Amino acid sequence: MLITFEGIDGSGKSTQIERLRDKLIREKLNVSVFREPGGTNLSEKIRELLLDQDNEIDPITEALLFSSARSQLISEVVKPKLEKDEIIILDRFYDSTIAYQGYGRKSMPVSELHELNKIASHGLVPDITFYLKIDLDQSEKRRTHFIKDRMEQSGIEFYQRVIRGFDELANQVSRFRTIDALASIEEIEKEVWDHIGPMIKS
Ligand code: ADP
Ligand code: TYD
Repeated sequence: MLITFEGIDGSGKSTQIERLRDKLIREKLNVSVFREPGGTNLSEKIRELLLDQDNEIDPITEALLFSSARSQLISEVVKPKLEKDEIIILDRFYDSTIAYQGYGRKSMPVSELHELNKIASHGLVPDITFYLKIDLDQSEKRRTHFIKDRMEQSGIEFYQRVIRGFDELANQVSRFRTIDALASIEEIEKEVWDHIGPMIKS
């Protein structure tokens, strides 16, 4: 089973992923968590390039680098684990490319990015995607690190477009479950489990 979490920075993805992973482990299930970009040696190196504020990266190059990191993660670890019936939780997946590179950066038409996503994910589609919806002001109040990485330096309008991208995906794509990220950590944890519990039992 492939479970993905999406939402802007500070929406609470890592917090919920940790809780979900612990619950699945308590159910004695094999579960692995990976972050995007990252999760393999090569993908972590690409992540460093992408987030380094000293790098000036052309928008198409940016989209291709996120996709390269993804392709390596999927082929090297995610696909082999899914073939062994393990549960994979991804902290971001290709919906982030639509929201950030498509809506935010406007690097290429969204339809072309969907095609790129198909290639980079080796055809994998998540079974369920949790979108933690939060507005920019609230997410900024939660920020725990004060040095902004290259993506975080993209400005308010960029982030407003990213939020619109996630909102539109959530309206169009049936695997999306939108969750109010302002609810308490425990309430969100319960909502996530209300979806996952029945899925692991079937
Ligand atoms: P993300 O992985 O999406 O960047 P995090 O899980 O790291 O977000 O959360 C960002 C900050 O917000 C952390 O300090 C975390 O403790 C806090 N946080 C997460 N979820 C909630 C919540 N539902 N209510 C209040 N604070 C939260
Ligand atoms: P990360 O620290 O993992 O995100 P968060 O702050 O939410 O925990 O940083 C990853 C950054 O890369 C984040 O700003 C979103 C961005 N990103 C894209 O622009 N496109 C993508 O396809 C992915 C996976 C991430």
